[in-house]
Amino acid sequence: MSYQVLARKWRPQTFAEIVGQGATAETLKNAISQNRIAHAYLFAGARGVGKTTTARILAKALNCRQGPTVNPCNDCAACREVTSGQSIDVLEIDAASNRGIDEIRELRESVRYRPARDRYKIFIIDEVHMLTTEAFNALLKTLEEPPAHVVFILATTELHKVPGTILSRCQHFNFRAISYREIFERLELIAGEEQVRIEERALSAIARASEGSLRDAESLLDQAISLCGEEVKEEQVRDLLGVVPQQLLEDVAGAVIARDSKRVLALVDQVLTSGRNPQQLVRELMGHFRNLLMVKIAGKDPQLVAVPAEDLARLQTVSAQLSEEDVTRFFQILVATDGELRGSFHPRLHLELGLVRMVQARRLAALEELLAAFSGDTLPGKPEPPAMAGPPRSDPAPPSAIVQDSSPPSRAAATTCLDGILAAVSNESPMVASMLGHARDATVAGDSLRVRFATGRRGSCELLQSPENLEVIARASARLEGRPLKVTLLVVEDQPPPEAPPPAEVPPPTEVMPPPEDEIERQESKRILEDKRVQSFLEVFQVQDKPEVRKLK
Ligand SMILES: Nc1ncnc2c1ncn2[C@@H]1O[C@H](COP(=O)(O)OP(=O)(O)O)[C@@H](O)[C@H]1O
Ligand SMILES: [Mg+2]
Ligand SMILES: [Zn+2]
Repeated sequence: MSYQVLARKWRPQTFAEIVGQGATAETLKNAISQNRIAHAYLFAGARGVGKTTTARILAKALNCRQGPTVNPCNDCAACREVTSGQSIDVLEIDAASNRGIDEIRELRESVRYRPARDRYKIFIIDEVHMLTTEAFNALLKTLEEPPAHVVFILATTELHKVPGTILSRCQHFNFRAISYREIFERLELIAGEEQVRIEERALSAIARASEGSLRDAESLLDQAISLCGEEVKEEQVRDLLGVVPQQLLEDVAGAVIARDSKRVLALVDQVLTSGRNPQQLVRELMGHFRNLLMVKIAGKDPQLVAVPAEDLARLQTVSAQLSEEDVTRFFQILVATDGELRGSFHPRLHLELGLVRMVQARRLAALEELLAAFSGDTLPGKPEPPAMAGPPRSDPAPPSAIVQDSSPPSRAAATTCLDGILAAVSNESPMVASMLGHARDATVAGDSLRVRFATGRRGSCELLQSPENLEVIARASARLEGRPLKVTLLVVEDQPPPEAPPPAEVPPPTEVMPPPEDEIERQESKRILEDKRVQSFLEVFQVQDKPEVRKLK
């Protein structure tokens, strides 16, 4: 038998095998078992997430000799022909190459005839957004008065290009990107069945590189197997993908965190001489810091972090040394560096500068913390100030979507709204929900939803700014409110701590004789040197010798 690529060999043939599209599969199964079949479905989502697969399973469910059934037999002529793409009653049309009015006219002709053999005549139109306006209009006419025996399944990767008139005639399903964890597990299963031994980190690298597309993941696994045979190692997969080894990423991040510029530059040299390019390193570092941030925000939940279980504990230790603000700064520098690298004649220089800037940002953060603590007019010896972070730091300009705002919404209403949205979001995406859980409040005003984060949660706010995450929130809030809302995420200044009365400065009168002068001085000096802020000051300026404390005369 000829070799069949994994993506075809492992195409699910039943609803139960479809990964990551639980809600869609459930709804379709219910419709079939209750015999409420719509005339037109629209499947929207990125490539390689199961749209065509689901369309074919639905077609089989409807036309199976033993159907309509939620469990097509996959054995009768109707089922087998759909699987092999040769059914005369289930027609797959690629709108990308059949865009015009003629094709749709033809389709409208054939819609009129009854199915040749099976129960329904089913048209699967892939990439439907590619149709011309005329073709859309013709299709619309058919959708407006479809014969009882016809079912349309439209699929698209670009929902926004499908006219509203078509949308409103279809039952709409969103196919979500497959999570890292789901991809990882599917690949693990496939590798096992295919008798291939593959290192966990190699699988992890593939799962990460495929960015939510299961088809891409399976194709990469195919390539890895044809390169390596039955024993696939991380090293080879990383070469194949051209990605930087996990260990090296961790080393670079570690050197940045340790503020060791020299080591950072040595590692850059190592990465570049091993044949990786600067842009790759920058992008993968972004992924790495994203993971660190996720570990910090979401804690131990491995579902949310794109690393193999064996690496998770280490990430946790590292992330504990960083604040959300630290990571956000790193992100901003990496994003800027990525931009500079595009079309640069001196990529290495930009890379090195970027990384050194990260080291400096780390120093700067420590310094700013210190200055903030001092500017709070507290002196060593007084009780700890309420918040070490003090007033907001002079952050580099925040990304455009995040605006500063400090108008107070009414507390009670705001929190209730947030709770509702959290509940609605957590059904769809636990990851988005966990980040949204860090918001301070949410308010609905007019046709917009405003979610606010404290400055310390800037990291969560920025992670949520991606179009997919915003869409998840928009969908959840639309469900909740019964109308579409525009979602805005803001970072707001931390509220100043409530005014506390200054601690009593005057010591209570005592009868005891004061200790001798130099003993006071010695104790004072010890107290000052032991003060946390003084110590971090000395650390920032890398003072080697133990300083002397002298009284100002
Ligand atoms: N949700 C999924 N569950 C299991 N396998 C999937 C899924 N999505 C994609 N695949 C794999 O990728 C291949 C291509 O998927 P396909 O349904 O054609 O993607 P799409 O139409 O969304 O681009 C399938 O044959 C299958 O091997
Ligand atoms: Mg497809
Ligand atoms: Zn069948």
